[in-house]
Amino acid sequence: MRASPVPPLLPVLIALLLPAAAQAADDGLAALGRALFFDTRLSARGTQSCATCHDPAHAFADARDNGTAGAVSLGDDGSSLGTRNAPSIAYAATVPPFAIDADGGARGGLFLDGRATTLAAQAAAPLVDPREMALADHGTVLARVRENPWYVSELERHFGAGVLTDEGDGMAAVTAAIAAFEQGPPFLAYDSRYDRFLAGELALTIEEELGRRLFFSDLTNCMQCHLLEANRVQAREAFTDHRYHNIGVPANPALSATADDPGLGANPAVDDADAMGRFRTPTLRNVAVTAPYMHNGVFAELATALKFYNQYLVDNAEVRINPETGQAWGARPFPHTIEHEMLGRGQPLDDTRVRHLIAFLRALTDRRYERLLPPLDIASAPSHGAEEEEPRHE
Ligand code: HEC
Ligand code: HEC
Repeated sequence: MRASPVPPLLPVLIALLLPAAAQAADDGLAALGRALFFDTRLSARGTQSCATCHDPAHAFADARDNGTAGAVSLGDDGSSLGTRNAPSIAYAATVPPFAIDADGGARGGLFLDGRATTLAAQAAAPLVDPREMALADHGTVLARVRENPWYVSELERHFGAGVLTDEGDGMAAVTAAIAAFEQGPPFLAYDSRYDRFLAGELALTIEEELGRRLFFSDLTNCMQCHLLEANRVQAREAFTDHRYHNIGVPANPALSATADDPGLGANPAVDDADAMGRFRTPTLRNVAVTAPYMHNGVFAELATALKFYNQYLVDNAEVRINPETGQAWGARPFPHTIEHEMLGRGQPLDDTRVRHLIAFLRALTDRRYERLLPPLDIASAPSHGAEEEEPRHE
């Protein structure tokens, strides 16, 4: 019998295990962040966690109705409503830190007005927002954290003994852990049908392909704002320029009279009248499963969000009407900063093009959320065939 001193598999095993061991430290921090993200004890009455409004089963958006058709979120006190639609925070880790570009325009930052520079800075806010988790102050947050011995030992292991005794250091540690979780694989799947198509793993359906060609063409203006770089096809596309635009979204009449939301104009780091009414372009990943739409959830249907843009491209009786209400769209709160030049590029979307774009947007759904896709409204599908954006036969 041949006795091999070193079983041949062992070196392979060691090689496989080493990088895993090196990674374990970060995984430990993300696991801690995950526990904090789901912990309802971090809210005043213990009724909600981050996951309440950023539900992992619903693309990390708020799937509750909240008596507002899902437009805004209900807080831990059971009565306070927010003023903005809780965004999906899948892919929020791709948003760069807040900065003012050379051209004077703002880019990046978390919240729809960019007022939190980073993910960690953002996480400190909802814990003490009276309309959200409503803890009295950061001292109270840390007191709740200290009630869990595992939190204490994990935070001390990662950030040093006594880290929770200083309020600044303690909050920095807690929010770094939450941010580590938000930077992890559950938030960055990149496994939508579109990603799998780019990787050569599947062919798009004809409607998805027509929508893709429309989106990446000058027939529409979408890619001017909803791509990292217009005219460029790249893997792991964020489907946003991370910049701020005013597209003229009207107030949501279903929300009790709140002041018009100035978006970027309310960011304390910005002092510029031109910032009023601008919001950071949202990613279009998972958009088909995260209705309602826009910063105030004013549109229930994806088709409405798309038809809304037609009013900048053509003027007739039809495009002045919101198909959901049968009424005019409503006043645009900050008309002077609307980007008419950019919004006026391209051609209006007829029903066929809306349908193709929706097919494409649905293909941007992470694989595990595909089961949430609403049924396609086949009744409204016109029977005539594709137009000029028909794929060429190559
Ligand atoms: C009561 C509902 C609610 C709770 C609880 C909540 N959020 Fe949010 N979250 C929102 C809303 C609404 C916004 C958008 C607010 C804005 O732009 O001013 C938001 C924005 C965010 C953003 C920024 C997304 C972007 O694209 O800019 C992140 C990240 C985030 N929340 C993470 C968290 C974390 C982490 C927690 C727990 C510590 C949490 N949220 C708790 C409702 C909630
Ligand atoms: C000038 C920049 C710009 C252009 C051009 C543009 N968008 Fe947008 N889009 C935005 C901004 C900014 C918002 C968020 C506005 C708000 O919340 O008030 C948005 C919101 C949306 C939403 C709702 C997302 C959500 O989660 O609520 C959809 C869907 C959308 N756009 C699709 C498109 C499509 C499709 C096109 C092309 C037909 C397009 N957009 C053209 C900037 C733009």
